[in-house]
Amino acid sequence: MFVEDELLTYGEKLVLELKKLYKDSGFSYYRMSKFEEYDFYAGNKEFLVSDNVITFTDTNGKLMALKPDVTLSIIKNSEDLPSELRKVFYNENVYRLDRNAGVFKEILQTGLECFGCVSKEEMTQVIKLAANSLQLISKDSVLALSDLSLIEEILKGSELSRSQLKDILSALSARNTGELGQLCTGYGIPENKKELLEKLLNCHGKINEIKEELEKIIKENDLNTSFLDILEDLSSNREAEYINVDFAMIDDISYYNGIIFKGYLSSMPEAVLSGGQYDNLMKKLSRKSKAIGFAVYTGLIEQSEVKIKDDDYINIALPKGRLGDKVYRLFEQAGYECPEILEDNRKLIFENKEKKIRYFWVKPADVAVYVERGAADIGVAGKDILLDKRSAVYELLDLKTGICKMAVAAPKDYKDDPSKTLKVATKFPNIAIDYYRSIGRDIDIIKLNGSIELAPLLELSDVIVDIVETGRTLKENDLEVKEDIMPISARLISNQSSFAFRSGTINQIVNDLSAIVR
Ligand code: PRP
Repeated sequence: MFVEDELLTYGEKLVLELKKLYKDSGFSYYRMSKFEEYDFYAGNKEFLVSDNVITFTDTNGKLMALKPDVTLSIIKNSEDLPSELRKVFYNENVYRLDRNAGVFKEILQTGLECFGCVSKEEMTQVIKLAANSLQLISKDSVLALSDLSLIEEILKGSELSRSQLKDILSALSARNTGELGQLCTGYGIPENKKELLEKLLNCHGKINEIKEELEKIIKENDLNTSFLDILEDLSSNREAEYINVDFAMIDDISYYNGIIFKGYLSSMPEAVLSGGQYDNLMKKLSRKSKAIGFAVYTGLIEQSEVKIKDDDYINIALPKGRLGDKVYRLFEQAGYECPEILEDNRKLIFENKEKKIRYFWVKPADVAVYVERGAADIGVAGKDILLDKRSAVYELLDLKTGICKMAVAAPKDYKDDPSKTLKVATKFPNIAIDYYRSIGRDIDIIKLNGSIELAPLLELSDVIVDIVETGRTLKENDLEVKEDIMPISARLISNQSSFAFRSGTINQIVNDLSAIVR
């Protein structure tokens, strides 16, 4: 059968090329049903991106679910043969809740799984195939690669609870060395281990650039890992050019265990490929086999034919208003001036052509959105906004400005009645929910957009959860702080894909700014 090329869309051609790549590499095509029994997903919720799945009842009354994940289904429906090797590829839709839009989406994924007696050789092949899949899509692509077992090895014996481990991993994955240091101290992790984690975080770059340094770290600290062997195998291949080792790349540890990777295109703000070793998931499903695989989010890519960014400016989103002025001055002192920004005008975009820098003024609450979505490479946002919006960005530096605190405040004579649901007015619902959940208090959130202090005065709420800077607004409205929740300050943040491509320039800005804010 012959199909005319022009009848195929960009996405369809891409899928065909990926399928050919996987077939030529010894993988066979795996086709599956669109749905599974709901019970299967209910019992394995920890492995799903979101708890929400689309369910329906079939003709014999059984509750079914539209597939939210491909890997789980492939493993469930394949025999466990730990001494044999199975290599399959697929092109399937999954049905997931979009975190931002709050609606279900059909997402096309093209990927592969390798399970059974997986050895170093297969792991190297899968990593190379992931890098080659990205190269097929765009020459301007990077595969970020890490090994979770190295981090586990460092933390071994630290007796962390699950939530403490989660905190440490989330500080690592946000590249937030400040918070990482505080957490390690708070959780009793010895100084040498804390320094080791920081060293790992700073040891990122092309395989051949960091291999020696990583080897030194591993040998000096007697860490037991096979990661160096894998890097050694990869280093002599042309794929090594498109692979960045990056230990901030931390994915779900209940799913993945050792090697993990994510793929980025310079033209897209979020990862378009994700994968790794998932022996933990195999164990949970009572399998003895080892496994590694990845998925390319072809649905995401096919929406727009990939074009290489030809603009080498660094785009910086600054928060409009009081904080923005202070923050711009820091950039200026660090050598990233743009005098036009200080002129009395209503412009929102300013460029320094010589330094290849472009600043935007955006609403403080929107900075993280611009950065997360890649409209800006870096930006400055308050910790309050980052926590409340749970933005997937790197948090590179505490700028030690915009210092204030998040607190619970109420009228001076207010006394909490624990027998009643507490009415809380706030601009920061997630911070308030997390705080009251941590102390086990039942609350009713009233989300407001400003002038929060009015709420308890007009009996709309019992208390407020809000920012307190000088304390003047509270005082002048006869309110007072009842409980401190956390200190807040402005943070330099980065888009994850921008960091994968421009870590040199972004790190230079971080170093120049940290010399000033220290
Ligand atoms: C913030 C915050 C408080 C006030 C605290 O409001 O919500 O109302 O600043 O500052 P203070 O302790 O120095 O008095 P913002 O100025 O952002 O205005 P808003 O009420 O419109 O949110």
